[in-house]
Amino acid sequence: MKHYLQFTDFTAQEYEYLFQRAALIKAKFKTYQKHQPLVDRTLAMIFEKASTRTRVSFEAGMYQLGGTVLNLTSGESQIGRSEPIADTARVISRMVDLVMIRTFGQERIEQFAQHSRVPVINGLTNEFHPCQILADLFTFFEHRSEQHSPLACFKGKIVAWVGDGNNMANSWLQAAELLGFKVHVSTPSGYEVDQSIAGLRSGECYRVFQDPHEACEGADLVTTDVWTSMGFEAENDERKKAFHNWCVDTAMMAKAKPDALFMHCLPAHRGEEVSTDVIDGPQSVVWDEAENRMHVQKALMEYLLLGQQPT
Ligand code: CP
Ligand code: NVA
Repeated sequence: MKHYLQFTDFTAQEYEYLFQRAALIKAKFKTYQKHQPLVDRTLAMIFEKASTRTRVSFEAGMYQLGGTVLNLTSGESQIGRSEPIADTARVISRMVDLVMIRTFGQERIEQFAQHSRVPVINGLTNEFHPCQILADLFTFFEHRSEQHSPLACFKGKIVAWVGDGNNMANSWLQAAELLGFKVHVSTPSGYEVDQSIAGLRSGECYRVFQDPHEACEGADLVTTDVWTSMGFEAENDERKKAFHNWCVDTAMMAKAKPDALFMHCLPAHRGEEVSTDVIDGPQSVVWDEAENRMHVQKALMEYLLLGQQPT
């Protein structure tokens, strides 16, 4: 049994399969063809933090696959009344086939997985957001479709990360190390990425830049995220000051390759981490990126429950 708790839980070959499979599943969706390999399977979703995209993409995706979904939040379950996470895992995993969790520390999801009888998917923790990177890479592949192999299209590319050294940044770094591209990281001081938290083998997959404009030079993709992630709201005022110069605007995009894409996992704050003309401009692929959460996660759920399917 496999879990998907961080990006490094799968091999490069598994990603090659998943991206190809997501393309097929998306093509079927777009042409109104049913694809229901998960009839009678149930996904439980546990949200300890807010969500729009993760909730809708998993829920709609599982129904499209023929399965059913139930949604739990900490406020409306015993999770918020301190039932041990291990007990919650033991109980829920006797009744459903798959669990998706959005929570705080990575150790919580790891503990859940350790006591679960069914596969567990990370729907965001303080440290990682692997499903989002799955969607982002798939979106990049779609926009570079002159390459037939997803893995070939990522090799040697430069991704500029502008902003917080957070869960998204860590997952980008894991993907870069595994799939052979480079991340140019620029964060304000005090918000750097931490190689050990990101769980990297070495620091070779990334370069650090003080100046976010320099980080964007020659990039194939420029990406950012909110200045204050969920769970860090108490630091909001202090972060607003520290991140002031880390706004992806047209001057920053102009440093990247002329055909560079702009991505943001969303939700976005226009005028903070990204300017309106960039996020709503021609290089932005944020709406494809959001939609692709559903297609890649359908491929992921099918893979975790049924394994690799013949094409
Ligand atoms: N990108 C993302 O995970 O969005 P939500 O917080 O809305 O789920
Ligand atoms: N880094 C953000 C991502 C939201 C999808 C957060 O953790 O709040």
